[in-house]
Amino acid sequence: ANPPRPALRAADKETFAHFTARHRWRDIIKKAIDNICDLLNSSEIDKNEEGKKIMASMEELINQIQRNDQLIQIEDDGRSDIVIWTNVLNTYFKDENWFTATWLFAESYLYRRIISIITNTKHWKNYDPYFRQKEEAFKFSFTEIFEFSKRIDELISSSSKIKIDDNIIFYELAQISLWGNATDLSMLPNFGNDGNIETKRFEESKKNILVNDLEKAWKWLSKFSNARVDFVLDNAGFELYSDLIFSDWLIQSGYVSEVYLHVKSFPWFVSDTTLDDFDWLLKTLKSNDFFSSASEIEKSSLKKLVDRWESYITNSKWIITSDFFWTSPYSFWHLEEKAPELYIDLCKSHLVIFKGDLNYRKLVYDCKWETTTPFKEAIGPLANSKNALPLLSLRTGKSDLFVGLDEGVEERLGPDKSWMYSGKYAVIQFSEGNK
Ligand code: F6P
Ligand code: MG
Repeated sequence: ANPPRPALRAADKETFAHFTARHRWRDIIKKAIDNICDLLNSSEIDKNEEGKKIMASMEELINQIQRNDQLIQIEDDGRSDIVIWTNVLNTYFKDENWFTATWLFAESYLYRRIISIITNTKHWKNYDPYFRQKEEAFKFSFTEIFEFSKRIDELISSSSKIKIDDNIIFYELAQISLWGNATDLSMLPNFGNDGNIETKRFEESKKNILVNDLEKAWKWLSKFSNARVDFVLDNAGFELYSDLIFSDWLIQSGYVSEVYLHVKSFPWFVSDTTLDDFDWLLKTLKSNDFFSSASEIEKSSLKKLVDRWESYITNSKWIITSDFFWTSPYSFWHLEEKAPELYIDLCKSHLVIFKGDLNYRKLVYDCKWETTTPFKEAIGPLANSKNALPLLSLRTGKSDLFVGLDEGVEERLGPDKSWMYSGKYAVIQFSEGNK
């Protein structure tokens, strides 16, 4: 099935898609080039030469975008998904260029091109060209990281004086996971010294959640005990951390006994979580010197947290998994058809949580929907097929696209459409599926 709507395209001048293709892609690639340049080191001649070649190929990629060339074949790099890319490219985008192809395809294709440049080398094969950005960003969020580790400790420790209803905790932690997806950490709820949520700021950020289905999601999930929840993860670092805080409580609460964490199989859309990012996060939280300002108490609290998280992994309460589909060019409308085994597995889940903006774009096929189109209409077969999954999207808006809004909301937010992609507004949308 295909949606009854045209797709977003960078050719549409007034869109964030256009701005992204014109400016942001170039900046992203330039940063990757800089990262490689900083690693060149005259004592490793072969590696250096290769590094320079990568930089030149990336420069060439920038030129192709700026000239708005036709999309070309992706160089075979031995990854098994190359067949899929070639096939989709030849079938649907043969004569298209960077701006006329659908935004979703062109942008995904860009990240696949970058990884093919890197994979086709000897010394840089496993290099993550965005690692440095991820690392730096994480360093800056220490205050929130520590605050949340204290908070989760209070919420789950049996000696805790705080007694809060499970549904309230669920709302709170789901919102932490949601705002972990914002570009702006100031959206996050704050905890006062007593560990209680600072309500003013919390209420403020709540107002920016334009659709909030958390109550429905809770009603659904709290029917179960020992349920399975899946996270289709988005960004590494702070967002991943906030997702793990949420996952931690899900396990501790007893409603959930297994959390599947779906990571990307290669670096994707700059900051998406790979397996290496996952391992790096745990290692870094435990390390003695990454957060230079951390006190001994803070360090030992983080260590305790990670020990618990590692025990979940050892005991298969947290299962980290990946699939080619998450880095494929396909919209999620085609999940069941294009990744049948993955789909069968996801059908065992009691709730599949899709994090972030790109996953949202893929859920709704990255189309020009009216903002009042019902969510369940925009996700098509994911809500309506015989095997539709129970799913929840936690997403802050970073693209030209919102669905499921009430009549009048778009008008209230004004004619300047930047509210859609500023990261300030969010949606929490639930579909119970057909189980
Ligand atoms: O180009 C902007 C963009 O890359 C969007 O295409 C994408 O949806 C978003 O940023 C990434 O955001 P997120 O990490 O929330 O998916
Ligand atoms: Mg991302």
